[in-house]
Amino acid sequence: MSENVLVSAAAGVLEIRFNRADKKNAFTMPMYQAIVAGLRQAESDPAIRVILFSAEGSAFSAGNDLQDFMSNPPDLGDGPDAGPVMQFMRALSGARKVVVAAVQGPAVGVGATLLLHCDLVLAAEDARLSLPFINLGLVPEFASTLLLPQRLGYHRAAELAMLGEPVDAATALRLGLVNRVLPAAELAEGARALARKLAAKAPEALLLTKQLLKSGAPDVQGRIVEEAGHFARRLHSGEFREAATAFFEKRPPDFSGLL
Ligand code: COA
Repeated sequence: MSENVLVSAAAGVLEIRFNRADKKNAFTMPMYQAIVAGLRQAESDPAIRVILFSAEGSAFSAGNDLQDFMSNPPDLGDGPDAGPVMQFMRALSGARKVVVAAVQGPAVGVGATLLLHCDLVLAAEDARLSLPFINLGLVPEFASTLLLPQRLGYHRAAELAMLGEPVDAATALRLGLVNRVLPAAELAEGARALARKLAAKAPEALLLTKQLLKSGAPDVQGRIVEEAGHFARRLHSGEFREAATAFFEKRPPDFSGLL
């Protein structure tokens, strides 16, 4: 279990709280494992009706830990031996229980694409969502290349994925990426109140409602696997190495010498 993920349960809500504020809640392998354990606990406990993702500190999540990506590229194969990242994507995209997220500050990379698999998303006024994969020489993941065009339309999806620029909370609301925007000081309690409200609904009807709403995007798992194949190869590319090195050297990447 990782101390960088806090899991607690109350009033039918299992809260999974990212707790690595000094690194903007960038996800490490032990964090993915702890999140998967929390998701599985929620699925198997009938007393848990709703899962709530939240975060300590000024950021929701800076996405995958870039140091981890450079020094120890994750195993993104699917199947019974799937590594923690794929287990996480499978567990969240396949979650039967309702999932709520409370987002403050940056939600980057997988910190943003995971929101596409949540049912309701609350954002603080300072929330900023971004898919910087292109700027890292990578490709979008977690079925975002399927879900974004489906939900936002092709041109908006292309703008997010091809420019990789952050969108602020008001824009995220307009695009339909989040449900509501709250003042930062009200986010934590607002999200818990919303999660508790959902947890008090008729449980079987709630599960069925989610199942029916989700049935319009049947090939999510197939797209996750397809993207992961490209992503894993890109992690070994010169483009990614230059971009990640540039991030830690606090300079813009220079792709001019690369094909
Ligand atoms: N992986 C590893 N470390 C990360 C990280 C990541 N994804 N994101 C942030 N950090 C670390 C920084 O290196 C820094 O560490 P240090 O204090 O030891 O120098 C610390 O977290 C704070 O980050 P900083 O960049 O100074 O914070 P900021 O408030 O200026 O910016 C972000 C916050 C999230 C916008 C910025 O950190 C960022 O863009 N991170 C990278 C996001 C990313 O590309 N993720 C991968 C997607 S595939």
